[in-house]
Amino acid sequence: MKPVELAKDIYWVGAIDWNIRDFHGYSVYKGSTYNAYLIMDEKITLIDTVKRPFADELIDNISTLVDPRKIDYVISNHTEMDHSGGLPRVMHRVGEDKPLYCSQMGYKNLSKHFSQKWNYQPVESGGELNLGKRTLTFLETRMLHWPDSMFTYAKEDKILFSSDAFGQHYAGLERFDDEVGEAIMPHARKYFANILLLYAPLVLKLVEEVTKMGLSIEMICPDHGIMWRRDPSRIINAYVQWSKQAPQRKAVVVYDTMWHSTETMAQTIVEALGARGVDARPYHLRANHRSDVITEVLDAGAVVVGSPTLNNGLFPTVSDFLTYMKGLKPQNKIGAAFGSYGWSGEAVKLLSAELKTMKFDVIDPGVRLQYVPDEEGLEACRNLAEKIARALPE
Ligand code: FEO
Repeated sequence: MKPVELAKDIYWVGAIDWNIRDFHGYSVYKGSTYNAYLIMDEKITLIDTVKRPFADELIDNISTLVDPRKIDYVISNHTEMDHSGGLPRVMHRVGEDKPLYCSQMGYKNLSKHFSQKWNYQPVESGGELNLGKRTLTFLETRMLHWPDSMFTYAKEDKILFSSDAFGQHYAGLERFDDEVGEAIMPHARKYFANILLLYAPLVLKLVEEVTKMGLSIEMICPDHGIMWRRDPSRIINAYVQWSKQAPQRKAVVVYDTMWHSTETMAQTIVEALGARGVDARPYHLRANHRSDVITEVLDAGAVVVGSPTLNNGLFPTVSDFLTYMKGLKPQNKIGAAFGSYGWSGEAVKLLSAELKTMKFDVIDPGVRLQYVPDEEGLEACRNLAEKIARALPE
């Protein structure tokens, strides 16, 4: 896609990845974009690059506006390869001696990714770079979501180049929030749940800091998806809301099953929760991707996990999901376990122990039923649901 002018002399020059469906284990049904930005000031400046296979597309886009050799400065807001993979190709075209601005950690990390003696210019948080008509300010955002991450703020234009923060994995011809409307929010929410949830406390701290600094923001330009120009506060407020992880009267019942017994338990629990006014759904782990389930976990007050016992342990998809969820550290959740077994039946105990390790409030020892649930077993599932429903906020 050709460059798009976002503001006077500021262009999106990135690339659209229509076909990506798996982003390091995160399902991206709508593809993604790798956003890069060109500022045509007295000092021509490129902010971020793209994933390596798209480097030529980036260079072609830049070339429709200016000879890449005329770029004076390159800024790397983040080292991860979806934004820096194209850097060697870009630096080769722009000039290996051109100043490359990044955070202190960016310098360390880029040096470890690329054996290149580029003209690194590590910056401190609050550092400024004058381009002629405008000045850029750098703002370190360590661990949002890598140690090297930083924002770049264009003061005069009131544009925040926010790296991964506020992004969405969404490929489309639209470049702005007002062109997509509310339909973009599920993508932003999923992105937050899968990329930033672990750092939710830092998000709250950062928003507080930015508010104190009094930065006026008229547009947010992330490194994935659309740019927020209609109402940037919409996504900032959503981040604050998501980061607080206030539990809702909602339960995610996530499970796998071998011969449908654990599935019957899951559905019984969901129906009983629903009858008690809980927003509940079952998520079979071979019908729902882990990254979609974790998106639902974001505002759920309860996560109820079911697994059959397989070879004295958990079913592999359930272990996979628990590993994924553990890494993202969701907070303020009630936890409970259930599952069917044949003879040894360790799964429920293992699930409860895992949920406790994740600091979930495990409110019941869990329901374990041998072979096929009978009416008494199903009643135990309903009783578990009753207990969960009572513990959830009204
Ligand atoms: Fe989009 Fe952390 O890379």
